[in-house]
Amino acid sequence: MTESQTSRALRAPVDVLVLGAGPAGLVLGNLLLTAGIDCVILERASRTHVRDRARAGFLAPNTARILERHGLADGLHRYGRRHGTCEFRTRDGRFRLDYGALGEDTRHHVYPQQDLVTDLLEHYLGRGGRVHFDTEALAVHDADGPRPSVTARDPDGRPARWTARYVAGCDGRHGAARRSLPPGTVRHQHDHGVTWLGLLAEAPPSLDAVGYALHDRGFAGHMARTPQVTRYYLQWQRGTAADAWSEQRIWDELDIRMGAADHGPLHRGPFRERGLFDLTCDVIEPLRHGSLFLAGDAASLLAPAAAKGANLAVLEAEILATALLGALTRGDATGLDGYSDRCLEHIWKAQEFTGWMTRLLHSAPETGGDAGSFFQAGLRRSRIASLRTSRIHQDWFAANYVGV
Ligand code: APR
Repeated sequence: MTESQTSRALRAPVDVLVLGAGPAGLVLGNLLLTAGIDCVILERASRTHVRDRARAGFLAPNTARILERHGLADGLHRYGRRHGTCEFRTRDGRFRLDYGALGEDTRHHVYPQQDLVTDLLEHYLGRGGRVHFDTEALAVHDADGPRPSVTARDPDGRPARWTARYVAGCDGRHGAARRSLPPGTVRHQHDHGVTWLGLLAEAPPSLDAVGYALHDRGFAGHMARTPQVTRYYLQWQRGTAADAWSEQRIWDELDIRMGAADHGPLHRGPFRERGLFDLTCDVIEPLRHGSLFLAGDAASLLAPAAAKGANLAVLEAEILATALLGALTRGDATGLDGYSDRCLEHIWKAQEFTGWMTRLLHSAPETGGDAGSFFQAGLRRSRIASLRTSRIHQDWFAANYVGV
């Protein structure tokens, strides 16, 4: 290797270095740029990968309001669809909960996350923003001082060093920000003990609602994405490979759990994607270490049962942008000082509801054999009955289901 290949390229300092171009990093980048703050985003993946990666698709009213406030909601309004109904299917039959009709603003926007990310990226680049794709952040250094730096690997594999006044770790659960936290940082973890097989089917939605099937064989879920694409989830034996079953077998199992014989057939189509999701979660505490701030999945990982991840990411990005603006433009550090506590309040609330939802949808596998699982099934039936009959319970559900 020649000297120029091993020597570290030193980049010009920036005010804020953002790691990761997901919803958190791109919302933050847009808000900073609009306010005239100099920032750069380093993104490990390629531009195509960032744009095409299929993820969540349910945006809360508060997320839409944040995007509207900052001129980032045009795609959402043009192509997103409002949605406010979920249907629970159990062996006692099915019932629909029109949570969107229960409050002032309690409907979701169905808008695939990769479309949101594409919009955010276009806005950011259109506003003159800089993103370095195929650039992996390796570690954050000197976060406890006034001039933190980030070592990174450039697209050609060469090392580089960036310096900034602040670093925003929006690089997800396996990113450099998490790896660079000082000893003593607490990571609260929980494993719900459940695994989902996530499927993206090239098939139109089979019902005009989010479908939650609570079957003795395990949970199955149905979520519309677009008129041509539908997301399905199947509770899955942990340790079994995602490709262990044929498409035919998966559709047959979805039919059984969703009660297709009683409630109507599912529209079948090829699976464009399969992936396994262990329903695990964690919370990092605190979310600030000197000049390094965590947001989005880097700050807290949520099980996908209540689709809160992207919504929390957008909310935290707005809180962080406001705090950084205060510090950089007015020398007012109160926003930064309060950032961690403020976000943790939202995070724990989201974790609590996600945990409740996870327990509603699955029998916990770890508890006491057959007797334990009968007990769990009884609890689930009682929860569903309460949701079906109690207006107070429905209002609580609606507020938490769409809230962040
Ligand atoms: N250096 C640079 N970029 C990195 C690194 C790294 N070391 N590690 C990860 N990244 C990038 C990823 O490639 C990804 O584009 O950081 C980005 C993180 O984006 P997301 O994973 O989408 O996370 P976030 O922006 O926090 O959005 C919240 O919660 O439930 C999920 O689906 C939801 O993706 C959403 C997420």
